[in-house]
Amino acid sequence: MRGVFILFKFVVKGTAFSSADSKNVTILEDALFCISESGIITKIIFSSEEEYAKTIHEYSAINKLQELAKGQYILPGFVDLHIHAPQWAQAGTALDLPLYDWLNTYTFPLESKFSDEQFAEKVYSDLVSELIKNGTTTALYFATVHREASLRLAEICSEKGQRGLVGKVVMDDPEQNPEYYRDTNAQEAISETELFIQEVLELNKKTPQGVYPVVTPRFIPSCTEDSLKGLGDLAAKYDVHIQSHCSESDWAHSFVKERFGKNDAFALNDFGLLTEKAVMAHCGFLSDKDMKLFSEKGTAVAHCPISNAYFGNAVTPIAKLLREYQVEVGLGSDISGGFSPSLFDNIKQAVMSSRMLEDGVDKECSSETRGVPNSSITLNEAFYLATAGGGESLSLSVGKLAIDYAWDIQIIDTQELPIFSEEEPLMDIFQKILYLSRPENIREVWVQGRKVHDKNMKILKGQ
Ligand code: GUN
Ligand code: FE
Repeated sequence: MRGVFILFKFVVKGTAFSSADSKNVTILEDALFCISESGIITKIIFSSEEEYAKTIHEYSAINKLQELAKGQYILPGFVDLHIHAPQWAQAGTALDLPLYDWLNTYTFPLESKFSDEQFAEKVYSDLVSELIKNGTTTALYFATVHREASLRLAEICSEKGQRGLVGKVVMDDPEQNPEYYRDTNAQEAISETELFIQEVLELNKKTPQGVYPVVTPRFIPSCTEDSLKGLGDLAAKYDVHIQSHCSESDWAHSFVKERFGKNDAFALNDFGLLTEKAVMAHCGFLSDKDMKLFSEKGTAVAHCPISNAYFGNAVTPIAKLLREYQVEVGLGSDISGGFSPSLFDNIKQAVMSSRMLEDGVDKECSSETRGVPNSSITLNEAFYLATAGGGESLSLSVGKLAIDYAWDIQIIDTQELPIFSEEEPLMDIFQKILYLSRPENIREVWVQGRKVHDKNMKILKGQ
C-alpha cells in the first residue's frame, strides 16, 4: 500500500487471557496484537485507541490481519517445566510401584533402549507433535544418558518449531544405577555433557524459537560427588540451565539426608546446582529453610501434581512457596510419572491436590487437624504456573501476552463448550476453557510468531 509503512510481520485481533501476576488474570478484550518479524509482541492496541481502526484497515488490506472467529480465544502457550521425553513410550502404564521400584523395574530398562537412535526418533518425534497439539510451546526435557539421541530430541524441537530445553541425563554412580544403563564414569559423564552443551548451542544458532542445553544430574541418589561437582562447574562455565529432582518421595528425600546429613536443597547448593537458571522437580519435602534457600538463589520448583499423586508421598505446598517465600514455580507433566501430556490436566490436578491438602483426607481426624490451612490454590494461580510462572522459572520472555514477550500462543475454540448465553462473563468462559477444553478444542498453536499446529491441517513443519 502506497504511503503506508508496514511495521509488523502480522497483526492478530482477538480476546486473550494472560496472567498479570500469580493471582490475577488480565482480559485483553478484542485487542490487536502486533507481532514483529522475529516473532515478538511489539505492540498491543485496544479498541479505545486512535490507531485501532487504522491498523485494522492497513493490515487487512495487505492480508496480514488474522481476526479470530466468534467463540475463539487466545491463551499463552503452556510451559511444561518437567518432562521425561523417553518415558512417553510408557505413558499411562507402569503406575503400580513406588519410585525406587518403578525406576528399576520399568523406567531404566525403557530409557536404556534410547541407545537405538531410530527408536528415539520415533518416540521423540511423536511426543513433540503431541505436546504442540496440547498447547505446550516450551518444554524442559530430560532425555536419557545417550548424547546422540538427546541431541536428536533437540533437533526435533528445532524442526517442529517448539522451544525446547533439553538435558542429556547424568547417572554415573555404579552402586545406584544398573550396569546396562548408566554413564561409564564421572569423567565421561562430564565430557559428554560438555560436548552436548556445545552441540545444542550450535543448533540454537539456526533455531529462531531457541533450543537450550540443560545440565541434568538425574537426582542426587544416581550421581557421584565427582559428577555433581563437575556438572555444577559446567553450568557455571557455560551459564546454562540446570534441572534435577529434589526432595521427591520419602525414599529419595531420606536417601540424601542419610548420605550428606542435609536436605537435597542444601546438598545441591554445595555443588553449585541451585542457580537462577535451575529448575528442581517435585520438592514435596522442602523444609522452610530449603524454601528460603530456593528463594534466595532464584531457583524454581517444577510442580508435577499428577505425578506426585503416584510417587510424591505428599502434596507440594505450592501456596506456601508462592505466597510466603516468593519462590518461582511452574507446572510439569512429568511424563510418565504423570500420565498426561496435557497441562490442562495438570492445572486441574494442581487445584484439586491443593484443596485436598487444605482439607486433609482422613475422616478419623477432626476437621481442625485434618489438613494444612491456607494451602489451596485458585484456578488463576494454577493457570499462572502453567504459563507465566514457567517462563519466569526459565528466565525466558514467554508465558504472557505482553510487550516484548514471544508470540507463543494457543487459540481455543469454545464452540463445543457449554456456553449458552451471549452474555456469559469472560471470566466464566476462561474457567470453562481451563476445566473443560480438550486437545480438539485447540485450533492453532504458534511459537515465536510461527504457526506450528493447525487443527485442520495436522502439524506444520518448519514453515
Ligand atoms: N527421580 C529420578 N528419576 C525420576 C524419574 O524419571 N521420574 C520421577 N518422577 N522421579 C525421578
Ligand atoms: Fe521427573
